[in-house]
Amino acid sequence: MLISREQVQEVLQPIQDPETGRSLIELQRIRDIVVKESTVRLSVFYSSEEQKLQLDAQIRELLQALGAEEIHIRMRPWVNPADPDPYSREKLTKGHAAGMQTDIISKDSGVHFIAVASGKGGVGKSTVTVNLAAALARQGKRVGLIDADIYGFSVPDMMGIEEGPNVTDDGIIIPVERFGVKVMSMGFFIRENSPVVWRGPMLGKMLRQFFEDVGWGELDYMLLDLPPGTGDVALDVHQMIPHSKEIIVTTPHATAAFVAARAGAMAIQTEHEILGVVENMAYYSCSHCGEKDYVFGRGGGGKLAETLHTELLGQLPLMGADNLPSDPDFSPSVYRVGTECANIYDEIAVKISSKCEGSASNS
Ligand SMILES: Nc1ncnc2c1ncn2[C@@H]1O[C@H](COP(=O)(O)OP(=O)(O)O)[C@@H](O)[C@H]1O
Ligand SMILES: [Mg+2]
Repeated sequence: MLISREQVQEVLQPIQDPETGRSLIELQRIRDIVVKESTVRLSVFYSSEEQKLQLDAQIRELLQALGAEEIHIRMRPWVNPADPDPYSREKLTKGHAAGMQTDIISKDSGVHFIAVASGKGGVGKSTVTVNLAAALARQGKRVGLIDADIYGFSVPDMMGIEEGPNVTDDGIIIPVERFGVKVMSMGFFIRENSPVVWRGPMLGKMLRQFFEDVGWGELDYMLLDLPPGTGDVALDVHQMIPHSKEIIVTTPHATAAFVAARAGAMAIQTEHEILGVVENMAYYSCSHCGEKDYVFGRGGGGKLAETLHTELLGQLPLMGADNLPSDPDFSPSVYRVGTECANIYDEIAVKISSKCEGSASNS
């Protein structure tokens, strides 16, 4: 049976916000409705654990009555954009009082921080971050990932995460686990249509909260997907975690590598160790003859590594993740184990862990 998006909006219209009595559809707290044949996907922003369960049941019932066969509800805690400080100390101090959080950004925590940076957007920084995180997890490392790209948070979607994080009664945010990686994203909290100007000033605060109020548990690595360029966020991270190391992502094109050099120069100035350069979209392998075609130019990664006095960690071909949406492990961007790209990421992960863990035991 075919359902339309309008029909979904119509049947969900009567669900109200208990506080104001207004429709959650009108308030955009039920939104991002996508309908394909009899499959319905939507996002719901809930304000309490109790409401979360209630809404889930209510929406499923209404949509099933409409004839929906598959229903995917993405649940996210709601942040009032008018609230200047939605993650204020008082709101989340209970976890600290319970003494459950360790200070992961302190150097003694033993967590290796790796910020993934690029000169500009679209070079595959997020793709590299999620795949490296997954590769490190495959090696048995305990890995966290923070999606700190406020302007283009994409990690949850790229990894195929549909759920938002839970918050315990003690006020601790529990990251979402996928492919063995614990994930936190700005995207879990920021409404997609909230003005970008509002995001910048929030970020430093949110990042700090991500470090302090999230129940990461024991970690070996924390990867950070930074916004492109050398903006405030990168500086925030440099200041907050002076011992963080960096990976710079570029495409093989000379201009891209030149722009990426600026991000690298900042790391050098702020005395962050650069672990190396990853060249993404390095070539295209012809599926018939196996010949490599250097569609985006050649040599950018190597040149950049030389400029930054570091190593070229690996070169990834142009290749889709080729997963099927019907797979239980579906993700648009994480390459399946055994594929050419996954193997290269495994090699890069080995290099990274020997660099990080080697240097840790020397100090
Ligand atoms: N090696 C690759 N082969 C094919 N497509 C890629 C590759 N790396 C990234 N992409 C695609 O390019 C786009 C940009 O990648 P993304 O990781 O979002 O870049 P960034 O985070 O730097 O903006 C995405 O659509 C992604 O799926
Ligand atoms: Mg990105």
